[in-house]
Amino acid sequence: MKVLITYFSQTGNTEKIALAIQEISSKNHESTLKKLKKVKIEELNDYDLVFIGSPCHDSDLAKPALRFLKKIPDAPKFAIAGFYTHSTFLPEGDERIKKLSEKWSGKCIATFEEVKKEKNANFKGYFRCQGIPSPPIEQFIHKTIIKDDEEWADFIEEVKKHPNENDIEDAKKFNQDILNKF
Ligand SMILES: Cc1cc2nc3c(=O)[nH]c(=O)nc-3n(C[C@H](O)[C@H](O)[C@H](O)COP(=O)(O)O)c2cc1C
Repeated sequence: MKVLITYFSQTGNTEKIALAIQEISSKNHESTLKKLKKVKIEELNDYDLVFIGSPCHDSDLAKPALRFLKKIPDAPKFAIAGFYTHSTFLPEGDERIKKLSEKWSGKCIATFEEVKKEKNANFKGYFRCQGIPSPPIEQFIHKTIIKDDEEWADFIEEVKKHPNENDIEDAKKFNQDILNKF
């Protein structure tokens, strides 16, 4: 099988996930890792499975990924899977946390779901994990989303560790599951 892993990453978090997916895909398949800006839409037809990765920006996938997804042909011959990293809450815990998670990264999932529906794509699922924020984003999250100093201290200490070993392992499992089902 021919697999493409393509991604946009400004500070390296999403790239770490791309590398983990590449490590697994390349074991038994012809697997190519390429930055999003190096991929021409026409070349996607050369692949059986395309992983597309992005950071979350302004609660959705980053602009380069959105532009790329828009250009995907209708009913593509290749299957698609998504992955993204984000610095706000995971959708776990109480209602408040779940709501904040939805507000600040929920559109990423919705966008992948839209591609599946609108492009009639064979969409295999998505992977997400947290990623350390850059200093301006760190400030933004504290000022806007997590204002309480105590909650902030715990949150930022934890999020700075991501993507961690568990995230990398989970990304590999996500990839392996998709490959197994093919
Ligand atoms: C301009 C900008 C906007 C961001 N907006 C969000 C956001 O709305 N929600 C969120 O959870 N993280 C947001 N982040 C944090 C990134 O999603 C996170 O740090 C990600 O892991 C960065 O990935 P990268 O290292 O691959 O660029 C934003 C980061 C930037 C630079």
